[in-house]
Amino acid sequence: MASSHGYPFEKRHCLSIADFHRPDIESLLSLGEHYLDLSVQKSSERSVLAGKTLVNLFFENSTRTQKSFELAGRRLGADVINMNVANSSVKKGETLLDTAATLNAMNPDILVVRHGASGAPALLSQKVECSVINAGDGMHEHPTQALLDALTLRQAFNGDFGGIRIAICGDIAHSRVARSNVQLLNMLGCDVRLVGPPTLIPSNADRWGADVFHDMETGLAGCDVVMMLRLQLERMNGAFVPSKREYFHFYGLDRTKLGFAKPGALVMHPGPMNRGVEISSDIADDPDISLITQQVETGVAMRMGILHALSDAQDGIA
Ligand code: NCD
Repeated sequence: MASSHGYPFEKRHCLSIADFHRPDIESLLSLGEHYLDLSVQKSSERSVLAGKTLVNLFFENSTRTQKSFELAGRRLGADVINMNVANSSVKKGETLLDTAATLNAMNPDILVVRHGASGAPALLSQKVECSVINAGDGMHEHPTQALLDALTLRQAFNGDFGGIRIAICGDIAHSRVARSNVQLLNMLGCDVRLVGPPTLIPSNADRWGADVFHDMETGLAGCDVVMMLRLQLERMNGAFVPSKREYFHFYGLDRTKLGFAKPGALVMHPGPMNRGVEISSDIADDPDISLITQQVETGVAMRMGILHALSDAQDGIA
């Protein structure tokens, strides 16, 4: 299955979109698509990870990403262990590398890591024998979120990425989702824009390969998709916006601002949402325009695809 269209997926880890070429991405998206069919998820594929152990190691809180990996691993028949870092020896002063050595001794096959420091999963990957998946590292990358977003778009636009103009809006500066998505959507041929106040757009963003806008009206003009991001208050040291109310006034997505985009434009958000801050509830909950629930559903299938591909690569199945 991992070579479903003739290209062998041979990567050991999933750490950064920058590590992949387009054929790797196409292989992963095809596998994710295979698992989108609920009957496939629930019935026949239990043996793919049978006998393998997946360890979820989350140093930051997470609801959907951790559960999504847990479900994906279980549906493929893996033994899944969730390491509750708050109760582990990490809190007692153990270093990341001691944790790696301890985990390595338990012989997991796949380690899913979320950490507040950029580069932590990559560092771990050099110290353990198993495959490592980056489930979000600081402000750096969140490659599985970008992959599930791409699969959601592939479904919504029948695979025509080249025809998609997408605006990623809000707190770009603190967002690993934005960093992974810009790289991946560019690779797939989308027209990518970044929209936000100057304080929340990194000064080097013009070199990311996306056009930068500071107001929603011009930024959303002609867009097929509007991807909203949360204000990542926990990563801000200092005041980046005057107030949440004022932020919503200028950058929060409501019907009026969505009206600047193409008629029928679709809305995405990786979650968790701050309703009334970056997005209004009537937009988020409107099934005709919001892809937010699909993103969560697609997330499980996409992660099943990623786990399958890494497992096959471990076993030399190409
Ligand atoms: C994102 C994250 O953790 O980076 N959420 C997620 O994975 N679903 C975005 C966020 O926290 O705002």
